[in-house]
Amino acid sequence: MSAPAARHDAGTAPPAHIAIIMDGNGRWAAARHLPRIAGHREGARALRRTIEAAINHGVSWLTIYAFSSENWRRPVAEVLDLTGLLRHYLRSEVAELAANGVRIRMIGDRDRFDPDIRADMEKAERDTAGNSRLNLTVALSYGARDEIVAAARRLARAAREGTLDPATITEAEFAAGLYTTDIPDPDLIIRTSGEQRLSNFLLWQGAYAELIFLDVLWPDFGAADFAAALDAYARRERRFGARPG
Ligand code: IPE
Ligand code: IPE
Ligand code: MG
Repeated sequence: MSAPAARHDAGTAPPAHIAIIMDGNGRWAAARHLPRIAGHREGARALRRTIEAAINHGVSWLTIYAFSSENWRRPVAEVLDLTGLLRHYLRSEVAELAANGVRIRMIGDRDRFDPDIRADMEKAERDTAGNSRLNLTVALSYGARDEIVAAARRLARAAREGTLDPATITEAEFAAGLYTTDIPDPDLIIRTSGEQRLSNFLLWQGAYAELIFLDVLWPDFGAADFAAALDAYARRERRFGARPG
C-alpha cells in the first residue's frame, strides 16, 4: 500500500478516515454510582453525537471500536448487557442512519454473536449498501491479531494449493485478506478515557495513523471534542518516514 503524500503547506488536510476507541463507559457509570450498563447506554448516545459530528465535518470514513475479541472475557452479565444493547441499536437506529446517507459495515468475528444479531448485522449492511455520505464501520468482536492471523492463513492456503508464490506476496495482497479490504487506512485514531494504548485495534491499518488520547470518558464525548481533535490533527505533520526533520 502506498502512503498518501504528506502536506505541509496550510496544515495537514482534514482526515478522510477517523477511528475511535470508545473507552470509559464503566468509569463514567462508577463515578455516578450507576451500574456499568448505564455507562454503555450513555455511550450509545455519545456515538449518535459523534456520527452527526462526522457528517457535519464532512468526514467520509468513521470506524468505531465497540466490542473487542477480548471483551468476551468480561463477566457474563456485562456481555449480555452489551449484546442486548447492540441488538437494540441494530433494530432501532439503522433506519435513521440509512435515511441520513450512512453506509454501515461491521468488522470482526461475527460468528460469535447470536444468529438474530448476525441477521440484523447483515440486514444493516444490505439496507445501507447504496449510501456513501458517511462510511461507518463498527468493530464488533474485533481483534487485530485475530484478523492478521486469518489473513496469513488465507495466503498460506493459497501457497499450499500452488496458486501463490510466497516470495511474491505483497503488502496489498496481505491486506486484501483483512476485514478492511475495501476501507482506507485510518488517518487519525482517537481514544477516550485517558488510557494510552491500542488494545488490539487496527494494528496493521493504523501503521501511520496519528494518535490522539483524550482524558474525556466516552459518554461525555461530544461535538466540541470531535472538533478539537480535528484541530489537533490539523497541526500534526505527517511524514510517513519520507521526510527528515
Ligand atoms: C468501553 O468502556 C466499552 C467497551 C469496552 C465495551 P469500558 O466498558 O471499557 O469502560 P471502562 O474502561 O471500564 O471505564
Ligand atoms: C478497548 O477497550 C475496546 C473497546 C473500546 C471496545 P477496553 O476497555 O476493552 O481495553 P483495555 O482492557 O482497557 O485495554
Ligand atoms: Mg475500558
